[in-house]
Amino acid sequence: MNDIFIPHNEIERQHEIAYSLRAVTAGKKACVITFGCQQNENDSERIAGALTLCGYEMTDNADEASMIIINTCAIREHAEIRALSEAGQFKGRKERDRSIKIGLCGCMAQQSHRREQIYKSYPYVDFVFGTDMHHKLPEIIETALNAKKRFSFVTELPHNEFGIISEGMPVLRESEYKAWVPVMYGCDNFCTYCVVPYARGRERSRKREDVVAEVKQLVEKGYKDITLLGQNVNSYNGGCDFATLLDECASFDGEYRVRFMTSHPKDASSELVDVIARNKNVAKHFHLPVQSGSSRVLKLMNRKYDRERYLEKAREIKSKIPDISLTTDIICGFPTETDEDFAETMSLVKEVGFDMIYTFIYSPRVDTVAAKMEGQIPKEISNARFKSLSDMENDIAQSLNDKFIGKTLRVLSDGVNKNGIPCGRSSQNKIVTYDKFVPAGQFVDILIETAGAYALGGKIK
Ligand code: 5AD
Ligand code: SF4
Repeated sequence: MNDIFIPHNEIERQHEIAYSLRAVTAGKKACVITFGCQQNENDSERIAGALTLCGYEMTDNADEASMIIINTCAIREHAEIRALSEAGQFKGRKERDRSIKIGLCGCMAQQSHRREQIYKSYPYVDFVFGTDMHHKLPEIIETALNAKKRFSFVTELPHNEFGIISEGMPVLRESEYKAWVPVMYGCDNFCTYCVVPYARGRERSRKREDVVAEVKQLVEKGYKDITLLGQNVNSYNGGCDFATLLDECASFDGEYRVRFMTSHPKDASSELVDVIARNKNVAKHFHLPVQSGSSRVLKLMNRKYDRERYLEKAREIKSKIPDISLTTDIICGFPTETDEDFAETMSLVKEVGFDMIYTFIYSPRVDTVAAKMEGQIPKEISNARFKSLSDMENDIAQSLNDKFIGKTLRVLSDGVNKNGIPCGRSSQNKIVTYDKFVPAGQFVDILIETAGAYALGGKIK
């Protein structure tokens, strides 16, 4: 088998390149602009870690940065358009100052047709690197600073069975109390609508001891909310199964929470449900994307479970963990989806009672099987289904949240929201607002007095 782990001496070589750049980067600033999922957020923290190692000071203001990196998402067309329009913002600036370097990375960079488009239509993007190249960032930055020509660092992941895992590069975390910890990368499921297996390569797991050591260190540093990340965490196989890994990560002393994202219903095991029910440090939140309530559509999506099996899993979760928040993803307007199929989605949503649904309108993705299917659904129909689902979910979420009134929830403070109101998150990941300021990163008990569909309100006890 290929060794997927980057050897230690290569990581050391990258550190040496980074140190050698510090004389050139002294006093300069770098900015990372992120689109997309939590995996991308974490990747950006790793990119920021590498830029800092190279001597840059990080800034959120791209106008003052001489190194700008745009971390893109390809999951839906909307995300791609946003990233491209962000890149477009820098045209004028680059024309005024040629010394500014602009890089583009993430899932869009991984796709050859997008790279061609960027090469042709975005001449001010200096370099492109793929999702498998983060351990090489010092080398990429060095090349960017010296190169006379535009360049790219990309491995064609679909043709590379494994992809890589690198340990030992720094991470510059955004938060001092919430952290992402990747446990696995890539996806082997090939759901027919999804670009991820093409953009992130085959499934590969970090070693159990590396994940556990990272979580332990975070807990010791005072982190309170840790999310284990993977496209399908249930396929974790870095030395134990995911339920065991989660249990171990949530077994250190102290008050903190461990969450995970994302699970695939086909292999969300009963052991995993039991660990969530039993371990007080595991957050009572289960995100279990159903995608559709119609077994016919699920088959076309290659999801490998049917409506009944999903319902059974949802029943098991709700009965074993009474205070669980169950959330899901649903795609409206998958090719050939009929009114009857959609009615089945609506009835499944009603039957399960989700705390929150992330609803998406189907977006055809290059290279995927579904994009070539007959029976693409007109936008007006998808939009109408999206609206019906959102309206129904508002009512369901409201009635589930009403049940919290009069109860006390342990909340991890986020300080204040954008309106200056004290707020935080419960174990269920519900937004809770309250009466008095509590510093971010501290736990507080809140007696819930009011409920909306997507937030609760109360008083400190
Ligand atoms: N179109 C619409 N939604 C999609 N998702 C993934 N691919 C697509 C697509 N082509 C949604 C799925 C997935 C979530 C992260 O994004 O619901 O669970
Ligand atoms: Fe995409 Fe399916 Fe893999 Fe999730 S499990 S990343 S939806 S292919």
